[in-house]
Amino acid sequence: MNPELDRYGLWEGINEVIVTTMSPDGRSNAAPIGIIRRNGKLTVRVYSGSHTYTNIIGTGLLAANMVYDPALFVRCALSDVSEEVFEFITTDDARNFPVISDCCAWMLFNVEHISGGGNVLVVELKPITGMIRYQEIRPVNRAFNAIIEVVILATRYKVFKMEKYLIEIEAYKYIIHKCGGSIEKKAYELVFRLL
Ligand SMILES: Cc1cc2nc3c(=O)[nH]c(=O)nc-3n(C[C@H](O)[C@H](O)[C@H](O)COP(=O)(O)O)c2cc1C
Repeated sequence: MNPELDRYGLWEGINEVIVTTMSPDGRSNAAPIGIIRRNGKLTVRVYSGSHTYTNIIGTGLLAANMVYDPALFVRCALSDVSEEVFEFITTDDARNFPVISDCCAWMLFNVEHISGGGNVLVVELKPITGMIRYQEIRPVNRAFNAIIEVVILATRYKVFKMEKYLIEIEAYKYIIHKCGGSIEKKAYELVFRLL
């Protein structure tokens, strides 16, 4: 049991959040990443070729941002988002670090026990500090969940360029139109614009 992680919604299993990082030369970055909580440990598996991968190695810090905006998942996964999505916190050692200004909570971590290397980096996360800004009641919405699946498929399509991912993305249209509001429908259209 880790009540602090529970309070931030980081429960056992894989928690899909927006991870913010900073490059050693001060550029902020945001990307959807799964924070894995199993057997009392928090880890992330980050594939090479991403800004997140190089920034984690470069600075040893990341922040998990709890976000419910489906379009932000789309933009952070498929494009480089502009500075206006970030605000900056000050770390204990007086560094500025980006978090998502529109998140309902963020938690800052030290990245420890870096292993893997090569294609995938597996790192353990040690909480430093965090902030819960607001809590809201959110019934499960199948269209929101579907957008998350669509964005994962879209990131795979960007790397592997395989037609089967586009077909799977198309198949989610029905559920997004049936269960989504305008926010989810617009996020779905945005995927095609950014692919
Ligand atoms: C919901 C979701 C979860 C993801 N989880 C991971 C992950 O755990 N590890 C990873 O390397 N990429 C993951 N990705 C893919 C990255 O977000 C994607 O490669 C992104 O473009 C990396 O951006 P960056 O270059 O700004 O770091 C995930 C994508 C989505 C949509």
